[in-house]
This record gives sequence, C-alpha cells and structure tokens, in this order.
Amino acid sequence: MRSIPAKLVTWDEIADWCSSLGRMIVDSGYRPDAVIGLARGGWVPARLVCDELVTKNLISLKTQHWGVTASRDGKARLVGELQEDLSGRNILIVDDITDTGDSLRLAHDHAKTLSPGGIRTATMLHINHSSFVPDYYASEVDKDKWTWFVFPWNYYEDMSTFIREILAEEPSPEREIASLLRKNHGIIMTEGRLGRTLSRLEILGLVRQIEGKWSVLVEEKEKKRR
Ligand code: ADE
Repeated sequence: MRSIPAKLVTWDEIADWCSSLGRMIVDSGYRPDAVIGLARGGWVPARLVCDELVTKNLISLKTQHWGVTASRDGKARLVGELQEDLSGRNILIVDDITDTGDSLRLAHDHAKTLSPGGIRTATMLHINHSSFVPDYYASEVDKDKWTWFVFPWNYYEDMSTFIREILAEEPSPEREIASLLRKNHGIIMTEGRLGRTLSRLEILGLVRQIEGKWSVLVEEKEKKRR
C-alpha cells in the first residue's frame, strides 16, 4: 500500500486561486484572445479564468497521463490537436497544477507550432521541481512538501484509488479505512463523508460491503494482479 501525502482541496481554495490568477493576468497587461483549458484538470480553472478576464473564447486541449493516481512516473502525451486558427492571436494555456511540467510543456510546444501572437501559461499550483514554470501561478508548493492534491472535480476518482488500494490488502470496516486514509495519506474525513463516499463507490460497483467489512470487487482485484 502506498503512503502518499494527500490534501482534499476545497471549492473556496479553487475560487481564491483562480481569482488571484485573474488579477495577476489583468495586472500584467496580457490580453488573451483565447484561453486553452487542458483536459481534464485545467477545465474548471480555465473556465473560471475566462470569467475573470470576461472572455468567451474557451478552447479545450487534452493531455493524458499514463500512470496511477498520485504517481509521478506517468508519461504525458497529447491527445488530439488544436483545430482553431490561432495565428497571430494571444493565447493563455491553463492547467490545475505543474508537477513534472510535462503536460504544460507539451501543450505549450504544440500551441507554438500554430504561430500565435503570444503564448502564456497559468496554473493554480506550481510545485517548484517542475521542469516547466508557468508565467502565472497562484500558489507555489515546495518540492519537499510534495502532496497529491485531491481536486473537487477528481474527488471520487482519487478516493476510489486510495480506498481500493487499502481494501486490496484486506477487507476492512469503515473505521479502519478512515484510520488508514489518515495514516497513509493524512486525509481526515468525517464519518458522514466517508460513509457517503463508500456508498457511492458501492453503487458504482467499485467496492462492496459484507457483514460490516468493505472490500474491492473480485474483478478489481484481478485487474490489479494483471
Ligand atoms: N497532477 C499532477 N501532479 C499532481 C498533484 N501533485 N496533485 C494533483 N494532481 C496532480
């Protein structure tokens, strides 16, 4: 079982970070003609930044990571290309976080081939070991304090990974799951929230409960072994 520090990010933090980005971009004098939101993590921040800048021109570009939640070794690749004519236009590429920096670099390098007038990049969070430094970021995270940020739009996906890893070791009651989430990830959850999360994962067929103990479904265990 992996022991990875994690933090549950709140919507208020998202709102604050995106509002800081908006202020920084406006104050810098840069006026993007198009905002590119990197799917999937950059979508919500890009939409909020569009509002900050009062711009409607939001475009999507997808990068994908090969790897598991909270692993730093997944390789990034571009999925699809920008179709819009961006030549001579000022663009702003937005993502949630720069960690390795691979996704933003890929997106930046691809956008550059379309001869835009200007390219700038923005993320809410920047981990300072990233090989790519965004032009704007709302908060810098020291590499020695590396954390997996569980963003509200990735809550069930990440929690499902952490919880299923715990249950793959052995079926456990809710209080044991709560204690291992705390021990392995520093995640502290109220009983109610963890209960609702487990119920959702159960409805989705990812975990099941028998006689007070939760377990991963057999198919999930088998996938893990493959
Ligand atoms: N994506 C890449 N690195 C991340 C991190 N540390 N937290 C959340 N999402 C990420």
